[in-house]
Amino acid sequence: MERFLPPAPIPKPLVIITPLVESHIQAAIYCSKKHDMQIRVRSGGHDYEGLSYISYQAPFVIVDLVNFQSITIDVENSTAWVQAGATIGQLYYTIAQKSPTLGFSAGVCPTVGVGGHFSGGGYGMMSRNYGIAADNIIDARLIDVNGRILDRKSMGEDLFWAIRGGGGASFGVIIAWQIKLLQVPKIVTVFTVNRTLEQNATKIVHRWQYVSGKIDEKLLLRLFLRRANSSQDGKETVQASFVTLYLGGVDTLLPLMEQSFPELGLARSDCIEMSWIDSILYFASLSGEPLDVLLNRTSSVSGTYFKGKSDYVTEPISETGLESIWKRFLEYPEEMNEMQFSPYVGRLSEISESATPFPHRAGTLYSIHYGVVWTEVGKSALNRHIRGIRRFYSFMTPYVTKNPRSAYLNYRDLDVGLNNKGNTTSYEQASIWGLKYYGINFKRLVHVKTKVDPGNFFRNEQSIPPL
Ligand code: FDA
Repeated sequence: MERFLPPAPIPKPLVIITPLVESHIQAAIYCSKKHDMQIRVRSGGHDYEGLSYISYQAPFVIVDLVNFQSITIDVENSTAWVQAGATIGQLYYTIAQKSPTLGFSAGVCPTVGVGGHFSGGGYGMMSRNYGIAADNIIDARLIDVNGRILDRKSMGEDLFWAIRGGGGASFGVIIAWQIKLLQVPKIVTVFTVNRTLEQNATKIVHRWQYVSGKIDEKLLLRLFLRRANSSQDGKETVQASFVTLYLGGVDTLLPLMEQSFPELGLARSDCIEMSWIDSILYFASLSGEPLDVLLNRTSSVSGTYFKGKSDYVTEPISETGLESIWKRFLEYPEEMNEMQFSPYVGRLSEISESATPFPHRAGTLYSIHYGVVWTEVGKSALNRHIRGIRRFYSFMTPYVTKNPRSAYLNYRDLDVGLNNKGNTTSYEQASIWGLKYYGINFKRLVHVKTKVDPGNFFRNEQSIPPL
């Protein structure tokens, strides 16, 4: 398979357009087509491979939706219109200003933009109870390749289906989403419980694989695996952090955990009751900050380099398998800093595999996110870490899905395959990466693309090609 290596220097856009009104976007599409330039659409700018602001096939322009941030909440009907340039932090904040019992199911990092996030899925701490963000979209406004402004009715159900998990960038410029707001209890409970290898982490993580999908859907036990120093002998060990949201109070949570997951040894003193919006701060490591910190658009991870990859697990990994993963993790620190295991099942698996392009439904136990972060500037550090995480990914092959080895679009990874330069990618070539992200839905996405953008104007290194 072709392996992607960023060229040096990274190509720069000819111009960055920051439209103020919809007609500016229409004009940008018209001019770009006329002058044979590509468009990159940027909402929150969190794409792992930078596809919202980089094109390896210059010339290109960036349409940055930073001025499209308005959010309108309709409490009576439990709906909201949110413009594509708003962040999920802004959305959560605005909902909480209007009602203490409404919320939305999307990601954890407040600076992520709704334009890219919702169109690629949007997994978060309420996803076992409410599905992903894309499952809760009820209408959208989009500008198509001909500059027409379309809503759900005028774009038709095929295109509306495609942009809810198929990635917006292949189909047009999404201007706004209408979403269904979700009922959240006045009080939720959070906890973070850490267990190292010396504290039986292997057995607990092994058990977690059987419990985390079956337990009450109101409970999402996310698992973070990091290196840490053992409190017993100071030696480096693996620490499993169980980071959890329960949509209810501690009095109902404790018996539930005692019955289904006693191995974790959860104590009342580990649990904190709070409002749903305070839990957003908690999971973003912002507890104690004023709520309006959620309006901040600057990511706290600025100034570091990062590469992420993803996998899906359908069969629990044996204790021996987990032990060999820990061994590798400790032996080769340059390969990875952190693994996240995010439980699925619940509402996620009740929705059919083809209801949206996001195919990770019944049968998926959990996803794995691998991340390596570094600060050292230069090619040698870049190569060391990129090659490192690729080796770790290769090492994980026996434990994860096969044929295809599934991946999550929102954790964009050009290593899983990419389009040819120019406009010449065939269905077969794109299937290499397309089946990994979309499974059985890839074919329908190609048909929608062929219908709405047959000339492939909206394209990037991993866009859906037309037939
Ligand atoms: P960005 O603007 O970079 O866009 C991403 C892609 O969508 C690009 O291809 C872009 O062209 C396209 N696009 C953007 N706006 C568009 C529009 N209006 N119309 C058409 N196409 C558009 N994911 C998750 O599911 N759960 C999580 O908890 C997190 N957490 C998280 C934390 C951090 C720190 C990062 C960096 C990323 C995540 N993610 C995540 C992944 C995130 O969901 C993913 O990167 C999204 O694509 C980000 O959307 P943005 O709008 O910010 O990205």
